[in-house]
Formats: sequence, C-alpha cells, structure tokens
Amino acid sequence: MRGIILAGGKATRLYPITKGVCKQMLPIYDKPLIYYPLSVLMLSGIKEILIISTPKDIPRFKDLLGDGQDLGVKFFYAVQDQPRGIAEAFIIAEDFIGQDPVCLILGDNIFYGHDLVKDLEEAASLKNGAIVFGYQVKDPQRYGVIQFDRNKQVLSIVEKPKKPKSNWAVTGIYFYDNKVIKIAKSIKPSKRGELEITDVNNKYLKQRSLQVKLLGRGHAWLDTGTYDSLIDASIFVKALQEREGLKIGSIEEAAFRMGYINKDGLLRLAGKINTDYGSYLVQITKEIG
Ligand code: DAU
Repeated sequence: MRGIILAGGKATRLYPITKGVCKQMLPIYDKPLIYYPLSVLMLSGIKEILIISTPKDIPRFKDLLGDGQDLGVKFFYAVQDQPRGIAEAFIIAEDFIGQDPVCLILGDNIFYGHDLVKDLEEAASLKNGAIVFGYQVKDPQRYGVIQFDRNKQVLSIVEKPKKPKSNWAVTGIYFYDNKVIKIAKSIKPSKRGELEITDVNNKYLKQRSLQVKLLGRGHAWLDTGTYDSLIDASIFVKALQEREGLKIGSIEEAAFRMGYINKDGLLRLAGKINTDYGSYLVQITKEIG
C-alpha cells in the first residue's frame, strides 16, 4: 500500500500564525505537527509516502524530512498549486500510486490510541473498496458527518451539515483500493469549489464498498484547526508523554519499532538531536535493543 500525506492549504483560519509558516510545520509540544500523521502511516506498515504541499512549502518539507533513507522509508514530494480539495490528492498522485491501493492522511490530524495500530495495519491490508474511521465529536458541523439508519448502518456522509444527524465525524485517514483515482477524476467541485473527499466516500458507499469503523473511547483524534485546539493538542501530548514516559508521534521511534532501521540507525539519528528528544531515542535503544 502507498501512503499520501496532504499538507497543503492556506490555513487562513489560523492567521497570523500561519502567514509565514505552514500549519503542518507548527510545533505540537516537542515536534512538528506533520510528525504525528507521518508516524501513523509508518506504524501502519507503509514505507513509500508521498508528501503533497504548496510550491512554497515543498522545499521546507524536503529540508525537514529528506528522502527518508535514514528512517528506512522513501519519501516522495509533489506540488498542489491551489487547494482544490482533498480528493485532488489522488489525481496528483496518480503515477505514484500506480496499480496499488492507497492510504491518505491529512497532515494536520493527530491520532492516538490503544489498538489503533492494529486497526490501521488491518486497514492497510485492504485490497478492495474503502475504509474510513468515525469519531464522536461535540461540534460535528465542522466535519464530514456520518448519517446512520436505525440499525446503525451508514446511510450517507454529509460534508459540514448545518444540522448534523449524528455526532460521528469522519476522521482524516482514508484507505482506498486503486479505483479511487478514477473516482476522484469523476467527481465535480462542490459549492466551495473543492473536490470533496466526502463525495469520494459516498461513491464507495453507493457501490456498497465503504467500511466505516467507529473509533471508541480508548482513542483520541485531535483537531488542530483553531488557536485553542492547537494548544490543547500540545497540552495533551505533554501530559501523556510525561505520564507514560513514551513519546507520541516520533517518526524515529516508529522506524525503529517497525524494524525499518536498526539500533545503530536510531543512535545515528539520536546523535543529531541534542535535546531531551535525542536522549529519549537513545533510551529506546536500551529498552528494546
Ligand atoms: O479532519 C477531517 C475532516 O477533513 C473531514 O471530516 C472532512 O470530511 C474533510 O472535508 C476535511 O474537512 P476540513 O474542511 O476541515 O478540511 P480542510 O479544508 O481544513 O483541509 C484539511 C487539511 O488538508 C488541511 O491541513 C489543509 C489540507 N488541504 C486541504 C485542501 C482542501 C490541502 O493540502 N489541499 C487542499 O486542497
């Protein structure tokens, strides 16, 4: 399975913070925001990852992440010159995806949870159809919202409904078979002028090939779309890391735990980070080593 991180957009809702720096580079406590979704892809077993961003920001992501070799994975880069919608990612990534299935994750989504990796690994073995994940939120009108019938069967997904029919939002990680490229090409821009990921999901639903997995209480899906949610995410990560002594969203740790790099590889990476973060990586090699 191929992986895509969509990390473009203008993030005007966070101005002036994001006027000079892109949202996915903002710090969430001790690491850049993009580390969190990137580590999720890596922990799902995905090693070939395309990062899509704006012409201005692609060089910055290359500086930050390089070609992935030191993490035992491969990073590729592509430009989206205008934010024409999340589903445009599959059109931009057509050559990269080739004949494979693909997982798309939004570069500003933070996931955390016990059993999450198991769920994602399972989803990453998908051959046909699509899998999306639902999460219960207080403010569903900001998201794609799942509408259920009486038997909890999914009837449809509605993008940013004024009157949501449930509290279940569709999260920003999506698994698709190769048909997604064709589907993305077939949909038309919405009223807000975007190729909506919700339209792609509804196409799969109509063909009875969409699985919606609901993430329960043991999970956290964190939003980073407002000033408050940004700082709340940092506080959440800090509190959990301090309590457990384990980091959330470390791409170096993910590479080591998944066996993409060995102990020497992790120590090499740790040697370049002269902070507590680097010391943590050294400690990991002792514990698992
Ligand atoms: O976070 C999950 C939600 O993401 C879903 O529940 C919605 O169904 C889905 O439409 C999307 O909602 P948003 O309106 O919140 O997406 P937003 O426009 O904020 O874009 C999400 C991220 O993707 C953001 O970091 C910017 C990036 N992006 C977005 C668009 C539209 C791009 O890189 N290019 C784009 O063209």
